[in-house]
Amino acid sequence: MNSMPPRMSELMLRAWRARTAIPGFNIPYLPMMAPVVRALRDARCFGLIMVARLEWTKFSSGGIGPIFDEYQKVKDEDFTRLHLDHVPVIDEDHLTVDYVGDIGEAVGLGYDSVMVDASRLPLEENIAATKRIVDMAHAKGVAVEAELGAVLGHESGPMPPYEELFASGRGFTDPEEARRFVQETGVDWLSVAIGSVHGVISEKRTEKKVQARLSLERLDAIREAINITIVLHGGTGIRKEYIIDSIRHGVAKINVATAIRQPYEALLQESPERALEAVYAETLRVIREDLELEGSADIIHPSRPA
Ligand code: 13P
Repeated sequence: MNSMPPRMSELMLRAWRARTAIPGFNIPYLPMMAPVVRALRDARCFGLIMVARLEWTKFSSGGIGPIFDEYQKVKDEDFTRLHLDHVPVIDEDHLTVDYVGDIGEAVGLGYDSVMVDASRLPLEENIAATKRIVDMAHAKGVAVEAELGAVLGHESGPMPPYEELFASGRGFTDPEEARRFVQETGVDWLSVAIGSVHGVISEKRTEKKVQARLSLERLDAIREAINITIVLHGGTGIRKEYIIDSIRHGVAKINVATAIRQPYEALLQESPERALEAVYAETLRVIREDLELEGSADIIHPSRPA
C-alpha cells in the first residue's frame, strides 16, 4: 500500500477538480508564520505558506533556508505545505537574478512547490527559463508555477490608474500564448493577468490597495486554452464576488500578502504580541469571509494518499 503523503501537484488537482481553491499566504517577516499556520488549522483550511524573493531582499523573512527552518518548527501537514513564491528572472528593479540557484536551493531543501517568474521577458525567453526550472523541479517531484502576462504592482515607479488599466486590458494574458506556453514548458500551474494587481512594496506600501476587478471572460478563454490550474496573484482587495466566481471558473490557488502584512507592520512597534494576534485574526477573516474557504481541508484531504 502506498502510504506516502500526496505531492503538492496532486493536492492542487484535488482542489481544482472540486472547484475549491488553495490560498497561499506570504511571510515577509518570519514571526508571522506561526499565526498563519494556526489560523489555517483553526479554519480547517488547507493552504500554502509562501515566501517570495523580494520578501528576503526587501523585507526580513531571512531567505530560503531560514524560512524552511521556521516552517519545520511550526508546520501542520494536515493543513499546510511550503511554496517558494516569485523568484523573478529579472527583478522589480530590472536586475538579473540567479533564479536557477535560488530555486535549486529550495528544491534541494524540500520545498513542496516553486514559482519561476520570467513574465518580464519576451514569450520565447519566458518559455526557455520556465522549461529549465520545470525540468529541474520535476526530476525531484516538485510542482512548478510560472507567470504569463503582467500582474503589475511590484515595479518601482508609479502605476497607471487602475480603471484605465482594466478597461484597456493592457498586459492581460493572451489565451493563445498561454496554450503554447503550457504545451512547451509542461508547467503545472499558471499565474495569469486578468485584472488583479500586486500590493505595493515601495514607500507607498502602507496605503490601502485598489479594489480590483477580474475579467471572467478572459479567465474562461485562458482556461479553455490550457486546462491546468490557474493562479490568481494580488489576492488582497479584489472585490469578493469576483474572487468567488473566479474559483468556479478555474482558479485553484490564490495568493494573499498585503492583507496580513499591513496589520502586522502597523502594530509591530507598539506591541509584537498584538501584531501577531492581528496576523492570526486577519488570516482567519480572509479565509472565512473573503475567500469562503473554511473547511477546505475536508475536501482536499492533505494526508490521504493518492
Ligand atoms: P497581495 O499583496 O495583493 O495580496 O498579492 C500577493 C501576491 O500575489 C503574492 O505573490
